[in-house]
Amino acid sequence: MRVILKPNHQQASIWTAHYIANKIKSFAPTSERPFVLGLPTGSTPLEIYAQWIKMYKNGELSFANVITFNMDEYVGLDAQHPQSYHHFMFENLFNHIDIKKENIHILNGVAADLEQECENYEKAIKDCGGIHVFLGGIGEDGHIAFNEPFSSLTSRTRIKTLTSDTIKVNSRFFDNDINKVPHQALTVGVGTLMDAQEVLILASGAKKAKAVYHGIEEPISHKWTISALQNHRHGIIVCDEDAASKLEPETIKYFKDIEK
Ligand code: PGA
Repeated sequence: MRVILKPNHQQASIWTAHYIANKIKSFAPTSERPFVLGLPTGSTPLEIYAQWIKMYKNGELSFANVITFNMDEYVGLDAQHPQSYHHFMFENLFNHIDIKKENIHILNGVAADLEQECENYEKAIKDCGGIHVFLGGIGEDGHIAFNEPFSSLTSRTRIKTLTSDTIKVNSRFFDNDINKVPHQALTVGVGTLMDAQEVLILASGAKKAKAVYHGIEEPISHKWTISALQNHRHGIIVCDEDAASKLEPETIKYFKDIEK
């Protein structure tokens, strides 16, 4: 595992945005050989998306031959709902770049058959040849995508019931009213994430420090699904100082040293 330590959220986001942009550029994607990117929603990626929009507008980066798969979507919210992840992605990224609509994949939380929807999603990822880079955030309880504590570390895309903690944390987007937050989501599994060629997780702020600690320093456990990343051949956690604040000083020293 690589751990990249940056002083603040802005610098962590800029590093991540450039790292992935360089991956896309050096891959030189074409329509026959597209770059496949996994994406999250939430507060964490906003600055990364702003950076990519800037790069696209400056002519430095194109998404014309990039295929995307989002991590998750709430059950029961349609694409037009202002708190749906569909809406979030178009507002914060897709409407501002040159991605082709047919290259965008987001789970449909109002599909008539949700299980079939999840199966089709796994198949769509496979049909594209798998994901090159999966970008993600991390929950305060260590979840990656909506893989809440005690999710199977081999799980695939499926329906998940959200924990009360996650519902409470996410209620900030729903007028702070927990009753408005959907109780279920469709999410890629830990196994789906682990199949990506590279997984890059951005963690910012003191609220993520405990999850970062468990992900990096403690044994692999389904209690902290982020810890599955220890078994990935190309896992990267990018942290700002606050998110890294519970790591042992020796750990910080090691990762700073090796990245010099
Ligand atoms: P956040 O959410 O980016 O809004 O902090 C991350 C997550 O819950 O995975």
